[in-house]
Amino acid sequence: MRAAIHRRFGGPDVLTVADIPTPAPRAGEVLIRVHASTVSAADRRSRAKDVPAGLAIPSSLVLGFFRPRRRVLGMDVSGTVVAVGRDVRRFAPGDEVIAMLGSRFGGHAEYVVIDSQAAVTARPRGLSFEDAAALVFGGVTAHAFLDQVDVRRGTRALVNGASGAVGSAVVQLAHALGAHVTAVTSGANRAMVTALGADEIIDYHVDDFTTAGRSYDVIVDCVGNAPVRRVGHLVAPGGAVLLVAGDLRSMIAARRDEKRLGITVVTAPGPYRAEDLGHLVELAEAGVLRPIVDRTYSLDAVADAHRYVDGGRKRGSVVLSMTTTAPEIR
Ligand SMILES: NC(=O)c1ccc[n+]([C@@H]2O[C@H](COP(=O)([O-])OP(=O)(O)OC[C@H]3O[C@@H](n4cnc5c(N)ncnc54)[C@H](OP(=O)(O)O)[C@@H]3O)[C@@H](O)[C@H]2O)c1
Repeated sequence: MRAAIHRRFGGPDVLTVADIPTPAPRAGEVLIRVHASTVSAADRRSRAKDVPAGLAIPSSLVLGFFRPRRRVLGMDVSGTVVAVGRDVRRFAPGDEVIAMLGSRFGGHAEYVVIDSQAAVTARPRGLSFEDAAALVFGGVTAHAFLDQVDVRRGTRALVNGASGAVGSAVVQLAHALGAHVTAVTSGANRAMVTALGADEIIDYHVDDFTTAGRSYDVIVDCVGNAPVRRVGHLVAPGGAVLLVAGDLRSMIAARRDEKRLGITVVTAPGPYRAEDLGHLVELAEAGVLRPIVDRTYSLDAVADAHRYVDGGRKRGSVVLSMTTTAPEIR
């Protein structure tokens, strides 16, 4: 099969498209023919080994110390089940699915195997494979953080980095739960983020949300510049800070910050589960959760896709399509 591979860490040019063996499903696994995946912030970090401060050694255990352990990146897929291993009951060939592969990666290829009990579920009706793929990485991450705290009608939530894959999903999920959402984004993304359900916008080029004297029940940092030491004073007693992009220092300080401020500090997502992915599918089918596709690239243009993601300005997701041959479709 064809796959985007990298044999060393570095810039987008380390990526090439090569023929590698097609995996075969073992007992309990399904083989998916991939239609689309995304080039996510995690792919960019893993390719470049550019991780938040202090996390180089722990992340090397997963990514590899000197060479990539996961030569094929891609944490999410949409596609069609083409074969199943022994004892698979949940899926059959022909089923159209989405899946979160997580740190096992492998989605930037024509085929991938996944445990049938893992985060894989029927794809949303009414969405293209490209849109369905764009739902996964941001949606699953947003859900896996939000699910650990109490968000309900009237919760005052602030989302820092509201236009990215994760932030755009957090805005929508928090809005759907009835929260009053304040989104920190650039002016260029104001209209998009408002349309996703944000009640208020703070343009970070103009205002510093940490000095505005406002209070929130939940702050979600999807940028990495809002650790508790900077935003703790904004959180109401009993509130929470969700560090989607936290560094090691913030993680070490978390338990101390919780005691000191009487808040919850979440530093890692909960487990990726099929039922949660199924919940996201229901929300997408109901029109409550909308995938945002910034650009779509072909597999052959994978380095260009990474180059664009490296810019740090993408809105929602950058999709990698295994079925198109046009290098880039906007
Ligand atoms: N802990 C986990 O398990 C986990 C899981 C997924 C992701 N992450 C991390 O979470 C972070 C977000 O992921 P993502 O996929 O959402 O990233 P992304 O899609 O690449 O985010 C890009 C967006 O960030 C916005 N942005 C950049 N600087 C900003 C700032 N100072 N203030 C507000 N917005 C800013 C940009 O908007 P403008 O163009 O308007 O600036 C752009 O739309 C990444 O660091 C990623 O590695 C962690």
